[in-house]
Amino acid sequence: MTHDIEHARKTAGDLDHSSGFGNEHSSEAVPGALPVGRNAPQRAPLGLYAEQLSGSAFTEPRAHNRRSWLYRIRPSAAHPPFARIDNGSLRGAPFTETIPDPNRLRWNPLPEPAPGTDFLAGLWTLGGNGDATRRTGMAIHLYYANSPMTDRVFSDADGELLIVPEHGGLLIRTELGLLAARPGEVALIPRGMRFRVELLDTTARGYVCENHGRPFVLPDLGPIGANGLANARDFRAPVAAYEDIERPTQVVNKFCGNLWAATYDHSPLDVVAWHGNHVPYVYDLRRFNVIGTISYDHPDPSIFTVLTSPSETPGLAGVDFVVFAPRWLVGEDTFRPPYFHRNVMSEYMGLIEGAYDAKTAGKGGFVPGGGSLHNMMSAHGPDRETFDRASAAELKPQKIDDGLAFMFETRWPVTATAQAAGAAHLQRGYDNVWQGLERHFRP
Ligand SMILES: [Fe+2]
Repeated sequence: MTHDIEHARKTAGDLDHSSGFGNEHSSEAVPGALPVGRNAPQRAPLGLYAEQLSGSAFTEPRAHNRRSWLYRIRPSAAHPPFARIDNGSLRGAPFTETIPDPNRLRWNPLPEPAPGTDFLAGLWTLGGNGDATRRTGMAIHLYYANSPMTDRVFSDADGELLIVPEHGGLLIRTELGLLAARPGEVALIPRGMRFRVELLDTTARGYVCENHGRPFVLPDLGPIGANGLANARDFRAPVAAYEDIERPTQVVNKFCGNLWAATYDHSPLDVVAWHGNHVPYVYDLRRFNVIGTISYDHPDPSIFTVLTSPSETPGLAGVDFVVFAPRWLVGEDTFRPPYFHRNVMSEYMGLIEGAYDAKTAGKGGFVPGGGSLHNMMSAHGPDRETFDRASAAELKPQKIDDGLAFMFETRWPVTATAQAAGAAHLQRGYDNVWQGLERHFRP
C-alpha cells in the first residue's frame, strides 16, 4: 500500500461529523473562529475573511433557501483569471453529440485508465439532459481513478454532484471539511463547493449524478408518516478542517459544460469555521429504511427514493436517486421482481455490488460498475430467466440481500455522448435478454 493510501485511510478512520440533512450545521476548527450573533462582523475572528456561498437565490422561500457562511484564511476572490483547459472525457448539457435513442442500452464497466489518473481526469460522461446554463436536467458520469488529486481541487458551477462509489473508497476534502465515502455510501457535494478527492484503495470506480436542477431533498413521506426511507439524522456533514498551504494549487471549475482553471498561490481549502445549510454529506445506503408490500403487488419503485430534485410540477422530479437496498419480499400471489414497464421517466440503473433481482448476473450481464439506460417509454422488465423463475417460485418470505443497485430516474430522455454511444464496452445485443419470453396464452 502506498504512503498516500495509508495516510488517507488513517485520516478517514478518524473523522468526526455533524448529523442531519437540510438543517443548519456549524463548526469551527479553531475555538473562537466562528462569529457569534452576526455573519459579517467588522473584523472577523482570528483575522479570517467572511464569505457567503449561496446555493439558492437570496429570495427563495425559506424552505428552499441554501447558503453557508465561510470564515477563511484568504477570500476565494483572490485569484488570477480562469482559462479553458481540456475537458477530457467530461461533457456538459445540452447533449447534442448524438440523437436521443429509444433503444435499451447497457454498458460494461469502464476500462481501466492510464496510470496517474485522478478523480477529475477519470470522469467520463455517459449522457444527460436539460441545459446547465438554464439550471435544468442532469448528467450521468462514471469515474475510474488510480491516483489522488494532488495540488488541485474541483468545483462544479453547473450543479451538485452525487457520487456513488462502486469500487474503492474516497477521502473527499471539501471546503467545509473531510468526508469518507466507501462503496455502499454516497457523497453529495453542493454546487460550487471546492473539493479534492484522495483514494482509500489503489483504484476507485463509481458513478456520479450531476444535478443541474433544484438541489436534492429528502422526499415527502405522506402516509408513511414522520419516519422512514432515508432518515435525516443518518446523513453526515463534515466538521471544519482547513489547510494552511502556501503553494500553487490548480482550481478547476466546470462552468456551463467546460472546464476552466486558475492557479491560486495557496490551497483554497482554507475554511477555518463555517455555518449554514449548503453543505456536503455522506449517507450510508445500508441505513435506508426500505418500505414495501406486506400484502400483495410490487410497489412502484418510487418507494425506494433516497433523494429527489423537485421540479415546478409537484411530484415530478428533475431526477430521483433510488436505491434497491436489502429487503424482505413477502407479497402473496405476487410476481415479486420489478414488473414489466414502460415509463414516461427515463431510467439509468447502476450496480454497486452483487446482483439485481430482475436481471441475471454475470459476465455480459448487469454487473457492478456497469449500467443500463431505459429511456422514455422504452419497454423493460425482468429478463426471461428471471420471469420463469419468479413465476414458478414458492412464495415464502425471501430476503433479498445479495446486491445493491440504484437508479437515477429523470423527467427527460437521456442523450448519450458520442463516447458512450460508440464505446467498446457498450453491450451489443442487450435486447437478447428479453428474447425467448414465451407465449403462454391459452384462450
Ligand atoms: Fe422501470
